[in-house]
Amino acid sequence: MEKKIDDLIAKMSPAEKAGQLNQRPNMAEVSTEDVANGLVGSVICATSAFAGNEMQERVRAGQINALQKAAVEKSRLKIPLLFARDVIHGHRTVAPIPLGQAASWSPEHVEAAASVAASEASADGIRWVFTPMLDIARDARWGRVAEGYGEDAFLASKLAEASIAGYQGDDPSKPGKVAACVKHFAGYGAAEGGRDYNTAEISEYTMRNVYLPPFHAAVKAGVASVMSAFNEIGGVPAVANRWLLSDLLRSEWGFRGPVVSDWDAVGELVLHGRAADLEEASAIAIQSGVDIDMASNAYVCHLPALQASHGVSEETIDEAVRRVLRLKMQLGLFERPFAEEGDGAGAQFLPTSQETVLALARRSLVLLKNSGGLLPLSSGVKRIGLFGSLSTGTRELFGTWTLDGVDSDVVTIHDALNERLPAGIELLSRHHVDESVSLARFCDVAVAVVGETPSRSGENNCVTDIGLPPGQVEWLKALKRVGVPVVAVVLSGRPLDLSWLEENVDAILLAWHPGVMGGQAIAETILGANNPSGKLPVTFPRSVGQVPIYYNRKPTGRPLDPYKRGVTRYLDSLDSPLYPFGYGQSYSRFEYSRVDRDGLTFSIDLTNGSQLVGEEVVQLYIRDEVSQMTRPVRELKGFQRVRLEAGESKRVSFALSREEFGYYGPENRWVVEPGWFTVWIGKDSISGSSVRIEL
Ligand code: NOJ
Repeated sequence: MEKKIDDLIAKMSPAEKAGQLNQRPNMAEVSTEDVANGLVGSVICATSAFAGNEMQERVRAGQINALQKAAVEKSRLKIPLLFARDVIHGHRTVAPIPLGQAASWSPEHVEAAASVAASEASADGIRWVFTPMLDIARDARWGRVAEGYGEDAFLASKLAEASIAGYQGDDPSKPGKVAACVKHFAGYGAAEGGRDYNTAEISEYTMRNVYLPPFHAAVKAGVASVMSAFNEIGGVPAVANRWLLSDLLRSEWGFRGPVVSDWDAVGELVLHGRAADLEEASAIAIQSGVDIDMASNAYVCHLPALQASHGVSEETIDEAVRRVLRLKMQLGLFERPFAEEGDGAGAQFLPTSQETVLALARRSLVLLKNSGGLLPLSSGVKRIGLFGSLSTGTRELFGTWTLDGVDSDVVTIHDALNERLPAGIELLSRHHVDESVSLARFCDVAVAVVGETPSRSGENNCVTDIGLPPGQVEWLKALKRVGVPVVAVVLSGRPLDLSWLEENVDAILLAWHPGVMGGQAIAETILGANNPSGKLPVTFPRSVGQVPIYYNRKPTGRPLDPYKRGVTRYLDSLDSPLYPFGYGQSYSRFEYSRVDRDGLTFSIDLTNGSQLVGEEVVQLYIRDEVSQMTRPVRELKGFQRVRLEAGESKRVSFALSREEFGYYGPENRWVVEPGWFTVWIGKDSISGSSVRIEL
């Protein structure tokens, strides 16, 4: 392969080299003439820069093939185009948003759903997907918290490995597989004020211990490509960050695939005030390590002249071209450049895919509150009121970045519940708030579907108020006033401030944006056919004023216990979160024994003390008690999803290695410091029994 790449590069003109590094954004606007002239290397199948928030046209294989024909039949060197798309959480069979997937704490189910997305996307001719997003997010205001795996580097790393395995398999050239692209490298989730694209200030210590580990795990797992971020850190925009893109990513981690900029980020160096014009921006970006210029047209216009004007070496450009050609070859594009057309081709909504995505959706639901075991609704309930316009929503279940979901594939929460109602139970529903209140008094229980529509999260959708959208609490108050027990089903793309709900409604089921099978998963859970088992992958604050808040905080020199009343550090709020990281209830009752230790293997006995089969996510945390640099009060180091029949007990063991007790310490090197550690095993980040060990 390397010989073939070198031969091709030897034949390429400077303009053709720049063409391979040029990614055009909107397929409809790419001219076949430019393709035939070798001026385009890859294409994003999007129709606008706000693809995450706007409806998109479906990708048509015919359109892809027409452009591909120009590349492989008309261009001088016959190098195929690479077609990319933002397939973020499913393609046709839309899975829960990534934050919801993370709540499953199930790499197995995340991998299976990614595999479905890969096969559907590739059936439509997409061979490169801009996913998974691995930005650690500690700020509920940031809209893109929806697109990632939450606040913890360990959980995000495990899910990154799983999703990359699902998309790429062991060979991305195999049928039904695609190249993945981890993003946004790096620190993009730390935008100040939770405002998208904003500046981030992160020390190298925090970068290495918090923000970089999921990317490092992805590189070790063989991810095909990396997308750099929009933001700057410490005065250096990501596309100008040579330390990040070259020293760390290439020299230290050994990554060989291409780095693509984010949309127009090379051009935006001018707006950052880092480059005077597009030409200088191109020189800075290519020398920093950006191989592909997404959408800014800077490379295609300026790379050929950069040797003379900015001293950019031919080797630098050739190396970038080499990475692009290698990816195209690894994908088998030279042998199979075209997408299949005709009857039966293209992404289908298959029953097996629906089952895979439903299995993930079921596990993504988090039961936050369940007073008196109100859920699942029992046979004593004769009339269920189902209220709120979201209960009949279709696209409302999809979540941000859903480009290829089809509304008519959705079974609404209302219809899913209606189809599953046991005989003798009646479902009453009303759209309008006033009618729902007057009807609720005739119901045994009111199920109110509240929360955010997908357009309130995702790219560029940040908020300063993380409460429920206007009017919803007022409506719930009115429902409560008629004396009916209220179950709140909450749709959301971020951690919301649910303080009022926690105090006032009887049960809360957090559904995130659960995807095309979400209606079924929610209905099954309300009626007891699914036992909820999701756990929070992010901390839920009591109010926006606590943000940023995350479980793996530092002890500080004045370590108050945030879980004790009366020792608040805020004058007007408890310091503890409303719901901690890792939290989630079940209809079963799980009992944990004390932790046992044998060397570095830690175990508990877990018993399902209830009459219901259920799954529990058992979590292991550590704390390094004394170290050269301060360490968090707890760090997740292991988790297992365990299924237990009624009354069943199982031993759950975690075998850790010495290495796993380390961190990036002084001089930013990995160190395992001998000394005392505490190890907990429990159901979330604030509970569990512990043992102390000396390493
Ligand atoms: C901008 C977004 O930040 C990125 O996540 C996405 O992949 C690109 N646009 C391409 O649409």
